[in-house]
Amino acid sequence: MKKKIFVTREVFGEVLDFLAPHFEVADNQADRVLTPEELTQVLADKEGALTTLTERIDENLLSRCPQLRAVCNIAVGYNNIDLTACNKHGVMATNTPGVLDDTTADFAWALILATARRLNEAEAYIREGRWDKWKLKQFLGLDVHHATLGIVGLGRIGQVVARRATGFEMEVLYHDVQRAAPEIESACRAKYVTKDELFSRADIVTVHIPYSPQTHHAVGAAEIALMKPSAILIHAARGGVVDDAALVEALRKGTLAGAGLDVFEGEPALHPGFLEMKNVVLSPHIASSSERTRFKMAMMAAENCVAALTAGNPPNLLNPKGK
Ligand code: DGY
Repeated sequence: MKKKIFVTREVFGEVLDFLAPHFEVADNQADRVLTPEELTQVLADKEGALTTLTERIDENLLSRCPQLRAVCNIAVGYNNIDLTACNKHGVMATNTPGVLDDTTADFAWALILATARRLNEAEAYIREGRWDKWKLKQFLGLDVHHATLGIVGLGRIGQVVARRATGFEMEVLYHDVQRAAPEIESACRAKYVTKDELFSRADIVTVHIPYSPQTHHAVGAAEIALMKPSAILIHAARGGVVDDAALVEALRKGTLAGAGLDVFEGEPALHPGFLEMKNVVLSPHIASSSERTRFKMAMMAAENCVAALTAGNPPNLLNPKGK
């Protein structure tokens, strides 16, 4: 008898086709986000799940889903999964590292350029029919080329962002909990500095650290207060790493020139202050959303699920103690 799995959100048809020979697959192609209770009920008789960041896998759910052996997240971030609870219940958890680094870094650059050059404001101005003449001082922005880029977190995505900065002939500073190896620093042309130096010297700060209780509000009022009034903050990592209320406050006071944001605390809800401000470029958590990359992420999660439930050895296992 085939093992039963559930795919919690809409995926590409090819992914379901790939899973079908291995499992009895139930899906949610209607793509409604299930409540925790609905998710628990649907997973109660399943051995595997392909999940996304909209599903919380925690003690409450796992204690009521005794068959579950594998939770395969379609994301590199996995703060929606409680690994301690997975270990306790013998559930393997996996993620999708590597496949989205370039795409996510590209999008961080899209936010950098759009925010620095006020592209959203300029576009709205044309669409509203307000463009009547060329003006010398129209939408004066921040030069990206030769500026100082501060990268918070020189992990896989941060490194790609840094390498892209070479083309803009930028000075690249970074800060991380651990200093990177010399060969990484030199490939990225990035200089390790303290957090305070990064925030006070950078013209553009871009955040690339995962969310965890330790990184909650890692970019908070104190860090934002160090930034130059001409600087901009870019965030395409995970909601909660930046203190959104502190950011709104700084933007309101004018102690920061702008922000480019793809992720938010409590998304899809967002701080109402962001909607009032023109100098904020907003996007709905789409940094990894190219056709090819989202396909690869979903397929990688499916491959993890097959490996987990057939051989007990998924390539992207997050918790060896869950085996
Ligand atoms: C990830 O992979 O963690 C992304 O945020 C999902 O879009």
